[in-house]
Amino acid sequence: MNKKKKENELIKPDVKSEEKKEELINEEVILTKNKKFDIKDIDGVGSVTAEKLTDIGYTDPMTIAVTSPKELAALAEIGESTAQKIIHSIRQKLDIGFETADKVLERKIAALKITTGSKNLDTLLGGGIETQGITEVYGQFASGKSQLGFNLAVNVQLPKDKGGLEKGCLFIDTENTFSPMRILQISKARGLDPEKTLKNVHVARAYNSEHQMLLTEKAIELIEKNNIGLVIIDSLMSHFRSDFVGRGELAPRQQKLNKHLHVLQKIADAHNVAVYITNQVMARPDILFGDPTVPIGGHVLAHQATYRLYFRKGRAGSRIAKLMDAANLPEGEAIFKIEESGLKDL
Ligand SMILES: Nc1ncnc2c1ncn2[C@@H]1O[C@H](COP(=O)(O)OP(=O)(O)O)[C@@H](O)[C@H]1O
Ligand SMILES: [Mg+2]
Repeated sequence: MNKKKKENELIKPDVKSEEKKEELINEEVILTKNKKFDIKDIDGVGSVTAEKLTDIGYTDPMTIAVTSPKELAALAEIGESTAQKIIHSIRQKLDIGFETADKVLERKIAALKITTGSKNLDTLLGGGIETQGITEVYGQFASGKSQLGFNLAVNVQLPKDKGGLEKGCLFIDTENTFSPMRILQISKARGLDPEKTLKNVHVARAYNSEHQMLLTEKAIELIEKNNIGLVIIDSLMSHFRSDFVGRGELAPRQQKLNKHLHVLQKIADAHNVAVYITNQVMARPDILFGDPTVPIGGHVLAHQATYRLYFRKGRAGSRIAKLMDAANLPEGEAIFKIEESGLKDL
């Protein structure tokens, strides 16, 4: 909180930049603002290619710009040299490369926060779940990972002065645990129209890891069409865990996972969207003292998650969240509880 304030003060010297900041925050300007153009206008994109790109949901120049030629070629089923040409000309148009620190700061300020419902937890996270980043929660069964997801799916729809973004949510459910009833209950408690709230949560059941990856790529299309501010994957690893069994499968699994996470980060960056993922834990028998539970997903996930939280059960039904890894926030803990109305401070 304080840090953000300081950053804001830094760029306050005149009214103009103050207005600019307002605009950034209010209009949720993303990197591509004023640089929107039709993919058909790009050199090397004929109507067939444009159709292929549209089919895979790659209609946003920024999304294409941050994709590798190989990846784009494979996704859109076009030649790699064509992919390279397209990416090159988009990058030139978008003027991508080094940017000065004030621009980086502008973009960071454009990052928005979604309230979790608990002030304690929000504070731990520097204000809530952040757009442009991936927030991961890991913890044991029934520790509250999915519950936070349901709360966020509702809270993202709240007015801005109540901690929301006035936007919808995409929910990728891999364990068949999505609960519309909880969405209903929480939205009522938050003073939202339950019918409307349900309509703004777009749910897809993922049947395996491949399907999960496909849904994520498809998400890009939906984000633009449906004014989405939050993408949830609950849980990220369950399919990856069961689709790749045994030691020999670990390397290909991590490769796929890495790609999946890159697509998620790309979505977060290019669309100023928050990504919330849940993760399971495993017991490490080699840890004799302290908490032996560790998240699965290895270094790939540890590296990609912008914010990493560990949930565990506390006394009298409370939950304890521990911030494990965040580049710009102090480590710490927050206590909250889960009620029918949603997440609350104790
Ligand atoms: N309506 C409710 N009122 C109070 N607590 C609830 C309610 N629904 C779920 N919970 C709490 O949330 C727990 C389940 O949390 P959940 O997020 O599903 O776990 P997981 O971490 O496995 O995803 C339940 O055990 C219960 O303690
Ligand atoms: Mg769950």
